[in-house]
Amino acid sequence: MRVLITGANGLLGSKISEIYDRRGHVVYAGFTSVPPAIGKPVQMDITDKVMVREGFEDCSPDIVYHCAAATNVDACEADPQLAKEVNVEGTSYVVHEAKRVGCQVIFISTDYVFDGQQGHYREDDPPNPINVYGRTKLEAERIVLASGRPSVIARTSVIFGATPSSGKQNFALWVLENLRRGKRIQALTDRYACPTYNQNLAEMLIETAERGFAGICHLCGATRASRYEFAVAIAETFGLDKSMVVPAASSEMESRMKAKRPPDSSLDNCKSLRILRTRPMELMDALSAMKVEMEANPLMLPKEPQE
Ligand SMILES: NC(=O)c1ccc[n+]([C@@H]2O[C@H](COP(=O)([O-])OP(=O)(O)OC[C@H]3O[C@@H](n4cnc5c(N)ncnc54)[C@H](OP(=O)(O)O)[C@@H]3O)[C@@H](O)[C@H]2O)c1
Repeated sequence: MRVLITGANGLLGSKISEIYDRRGHVVYAGFTSVPPAIGKPVQMDITDKVMVREGFEDCSPDIVYHCAAATNVDACEADPQLAKEVNVEGTSYVVHEAKRVGCQVIFISTDYVFDGQQGHYREDDPPNPINVYGRTKLEAERIVLASGRPSVIARTSVIFGATPSSGKQNFALWVLENLRRGKRIQALTDRYACPTYNQNLAEMLIETAERGFAGICHLCGATRASRYEFAVAIAETFGLDKSMVVPAASSEMESRMKAKRPPDSSLDNCKSLRILRTRPMELMDALSAMKVEMEANPLMLPKEPQE
């Protein structure tokens, strides 16, 4: 199969590439400036209509995993125009070309389409985003739905994994690095989500595509946790000092964040349990799997501080 992945340098895109490549499929890895390590690199800034058209023509994919997005929530708030260009217009170009070449579309969306007042959101709960990032991703969802192509809209939540991607750390690596250095960190006790291991998410997404599912589906980790609970679970899994994780309330940290965050954006995953054999992982199991992944490649382990 010919698989195109937009955002193939990212936390999720890199895992999807890795799995398809290992299974012997032809992976076309979309990027903006640094060619990804896995797959045939396809330079494709999704805000450039012509580049998107040429990218699709060159690889003629059977399926596209559209992972590329402006994902920094505060940066989206600071620059709504850029967020719109990447998340909305970029998605419309990708969907248009997918339709033209007749390929299946798997679009990755977010728990941030909800306002977080309720938690345990189901696929048919009404979205009500409270920041620019969430609004642009919801607009993109609607473009995918309106395309008429058989497509998946997979909403996920707080992705974490064993390696930095696209030049950024994820929350789990940030916690690990700080605790390994003996640094105290603050973590919120009043913001809930379902942390999702990138390997588990990639496997669920691929199975969703293989089964020919179409529509919206929540694909996320099986445990609802606050950021504080998540950080403590990381410390416990890696044998680090959990007393260095200091509980904090959103009200103490709000002034440092440009965008509002939903207080409880946890997702109900019953639909994925019904349609997939791949199980969403409990948080402690996912962290243990991430530890095994890091131990198999010692370069991934956060370094001891240098004297
Ligand atoms: N991370 C989370 O916690 C989370 C939670 C819910 C949903 N999601 C969604 O899941 C998807 C994957 O997220 P992620 O965490 O893997 O993302 P990520 O690590 O932040 O990577 C984002 C990717 O988007 C690409 N990108 C950005 N602007 C682009 C442009 N103009 N043209 C082409 N590519 C562009 C980047 O490519 P280059 O590096 O080549 O520039 C990068 O590979 C996103 O759609 C995101 O909205 C993420």
